[in-house]
Formats: sequence, structure tokens, C-alpha cells
Amino acid sequence: KRKIIIDCDPGHDDAIAILLAAGNKNIELVGITTVAGNAELEKTTLNALKVCEIAGIRDVPVLRGNGQPLIRKRETAPDIHGDSGMDGPVLPEPTKKVEDEHAVDFIIRKVLDSDGDITLVPVGPLTNIAMAMRREPAILSKIQEIVIMGGGTFGNWTPAAEFNIFVDADAAKVVFESGVPITMMGLDLTHQALATEEVSQRIAEINNPAGKFVSDLLIYFRKTYLEVFGFEHPPVHDVCCVAYCIDPTVVETKKLRVDIETKGELTYGMTLVDVHGVTGKEPNVNVALTLDNQKFWDMVVDALKNLGN
Ligand code: BDR
Ligand code: CA
Repeated sequence: KRKIIIDCDPGHDDAIAILLAAGNKNIELVGITTVAGNAELEKTTLNALKVCEIAGIRDVPVLRGNGQPLIRKRETAPDIHGDSGMDGPVLPEPTKKVEDEHAVDFIIRKVLDSDGDITLVPVGPLTNIAMAMRREPAILSKIQEIVIMGGGTFGNWTPAAEFNIFVDADAAKVVFESGVPITMMGLDLTHQALATEEVSQRIAEINNPAGKFVSDLLIYFRKTYLEVFGFEHPPVHDVCCVAYCIDPTVVETKKLRVDIETKGELTYGMTLVDVHGVTGKEPNVNVALTLDNQKFWDMVVDALKNLGN
């Protein structure tokens, strides 16, 4: 089993990422840590608890992290995810409670106690991960891999920058320069993970609460992605990271140099991908470029079915 910690800001696609992890037998979900991103921290944390409740995830701790980026002013994405951060499905108040421990302390503790076999899966802004690295540098050599949803060779929040990197580019810089093995699911990859009508239909036919929940998420996400970006089908970005942890062959990657822009006037938050190796700098990131769509959605559908059992 691959041990992962999902660091997230649920978030429609974050929610589906959690469900994929919980419903796949090759993943051991060590914890779910939350961060401000799509919505404020209290909302993303509440959403994480709701996701656990609906999917029957009982033994996985949920830990609250940072409510503010390291330096920049907080920015959220209500146009895409609604005011709650997870608008659409109507869910009851969860009975599951958030832990007292801070997410950053949890990440440090789990990584230090491990045999070097924990993968971090940040699918929101990188604030918690950067802070853990600064607070306890001893984790650097013990993190197996960091599988990030963020960046790309183009942006969505600005023409240059993807949302997760833009919200806390200072944190992204810390993480990308850490020397820890990084695999990046940027927009080049995640825009291939589209929930088409056919996919939505397959999910709608799953007769359990998790399936119904994802159906409702996708109805809302489809609407906002059409309104805001003119996309015919919504891309479920964050899910790609978990799919890769389950089966790395679901994507094709290329090792490239990626640097984070933190000063640009027009390009703030850009992941500068050295596609042709012109900098001569050592490649530091496994950049995911092509998705095996069939394999990807089969995994998601299987996991959702499993959550009913
Ligand atoms: C990323 O931003 C959020 O809106 C999504 O959850 C995803 O993590 C895509 O740019
Ligand atoms: Ca996210």
C-alpha cells in the first residue's frame, strides 16, 4: 500500500481526490490536512469532514492547517467553487471532528516517524508543506515524493499562473527548491481529465451515497467551468495526483527544470517550465504531460463503487 497525506482545500475536485484515495485498496490514507484556497480555512476544513462523513471515511484524521498564505493576502475562488468552497451537493453537518493537532505538526510527525515511505499530495496552495519544510528540515530527506496539483506551461487564474501556485507562490518556491522528488500535475495534464457526459453518466449510475455526491459535485462544477472558462466539460484536476499514486502509468512524465516566478509584474505565480532545457539547470520536477483517460476514469468509478461496500 502506498501511504499518502492529502493536503487540500475542498473544493469539488479535492473532494473526488479524497474519495479516490479512500476507495482504492492500494492507498493508505494517513491523513487529510486542510489549507485556505478555494475558500477560507474553516470552510475547507468543514468540507473535508463532510466528504469523510458521506463516504464513510472514519479512521482517517482531519487536521486544520494554515488559513493565510505565507506572505501574500489570501485569495479564494467562489466563482468556481461557490461561497462554501463546495457548493452544489446538500450535505448534513458532519459528526466527525477535526483533530486538535495542527496540520503542519502532523505532517512533520508522520514523516519523521515513517520509514521514508510517505508521499505528500498537496492539491491546494502549498502553504502547509512549505511551512513544514521550514519548521523541520529533517523531513526533507524522509519524504518519499511530493505529488502536486499546480502550475503548468500556462495559467488559469492569470494567463501565466495556475490558482494553487498563484495563491501562495512563496510557498511554492520553497517546495520546488527543496530537493525533494516532485511530480507535478499541472494544467497541461489536468485539462485532459475532463468529466464528459459519458463519465458523468457512469458515475450517476453508481447507486451509493458517494456516487450521488460526486454526481452533484460535477453538475455544479460543469456549470461554473462553462460560465467562467467556457469549458464544455469540467477538469477534475486534483484527482490526477491520487490516480498517479495508485498507478504511475496513468500518466506520462518528463523530468524538467521548473522554477517559480515570485516577482513578475504580469507573470507572478508562474511555473516556468524549461521545456527545451535552455537554462542548463538540473531538472527538478517530473512534469506530467499525458493522461490515460480510460484508465483514469475506470479507477475513479471503481473507487466510488467500493465506497458503498
Ligand atoms: C486547482 O485550483 C482549485 O480550484 C482546484 O481545486 C485545483 O486544485 C486548479 O487550478
Ligand atoms: Ca484543490
